[in-house]
Amino acid sequence: MSVRPEPRPGVMQIDAYVPGKSKAAGGVKVHKLSSNETPLGPSPKAIEAVRTFDHLELYPDGSATKLREAIGAKYGLDPSRIICGAGSDELLSLLAYTYVGPGDEGAFSEHGFLVYRIAILAAGGTPVVAPEKDFHADVDAILARVTEKTKIVFLTNPNNPTGTYIPFDEVKRLHAGLPPHVVLVLDAAYAEYVRRNDYEAGLELVATAENVVMTRTFSKIYGLANMRVGWMVAPAHIADAVNRVRGPFNMNGPAMAAGIAAVQDEEHVAKAFAHNEQWLAWLTKEIEALGLKVTPSVANFMMIHFPEAAGQTAKDADAFLSSRGLILRRIEAYGIPNALRLTVGSEEANRLVVEALRDFMKGGNHA
Ligand SMILES: Cc1ncc(COP(=O)(O)O)c(C=O)c1O
Repeated sequence: MSVRPEPRPGVMQIDAYVPGKSKAAGGVKVHKLSSNETPLGPSPKAIEAVRTFDHLELYPDGSATKLREAIGAKYGLDPSRIICGAGSDELLSLLAYTYVGPGDEGAFSEHGFLVYRIAILAAGGTPVVAPEKDFHADVDAILARVTEKTKIVFLTNPNNPTGTYIPFDEVKRLHAGLPPHVVLVLDAAYAEYVRRNDYEAGLELVATAENVVMTRTFSKIYGLANMRVGWMVAPAHIADAVNRVRGPFNMNGPAMAAGIAAVQDEEHVAKAFAHNEQWLAWLTKEIEALGLKVTPSVANFMMIHFPEAAGQTAKDADAFLSSRGLILRRIEAYGIPNALRLTVGSEEANRLVVEALRDFMKGGNHA
């Protein structure tokens, strides 16, 4: 008998999620490029919606009806199949709690988003990791790890932190190879940034299959990370099950008002997209010109690989950049110890990063 309460098995195996840093040494202006936030901020209409929000004493609409309708109108979806959450993180966890229990497995790929592992363990299940090929999810490796115990498969597409994607044909092949009892979760947090002929987030698959769910977020291109607004679209039976597990008032009113305004402001999204297109390409070219390898990305961030030589590693680069107020993300926790993830920032931040990396590669030990 325990002398004190013990968490359920699995809980203490969780390494708590560590968010991107936001501070640097005192005195320097900080550019936070560690959490894939947008440098353009949210739509001014979303800011106004929060500013003018009234009646904080009243409970919010627990079924987020207006937000679901606004999302449905924008993406051509049936609002009854949409569930909103406090960020897509909440929905990823709810999906695990709904479908995974002790003795069950949940699979995801090697460098996939860290929250999947946390959600599966918290639900009492066992995480199963499929190796990647050249930082791309490998459909065959995932399928090879699916057993009758597998209840859920998470696929980030495009992936964080690698910035890579797999074509929609590959997603369909993954789905076709899964037994029907497995829920396939397509995490498309960065879908709005991708324009590739062979990429699709997969809404068509969600609409036609009985076991495919998509999660989306307002934290990235819509610039509402602080408000915590995410959504998922699912077959009716999955939406019904998840709604039973969901907290009755999981979304707050100001967040919903901001989401509605943001999803309707197409001009703002177009601006954010154009900014990213321009600066993702510029950063990639300039950083490669310094002799550093950059994994080609379709999202609003990129992975920069550093030499193994002492003084030139990702850890050294992180310290050097931080001393100039440039906060990138170390991605050791994703199994990639010698790279940094850089979020596309403002023009000022992007130029400062390239300048700092140039000095770092020249061997400048001091900022
Ligand atoms: C792949 C991926 N999925 C989901 C999320 C969660 O986003 P949020 O909970 O802010 O919607 C993130 C955030 O970094 C992400 O990178």
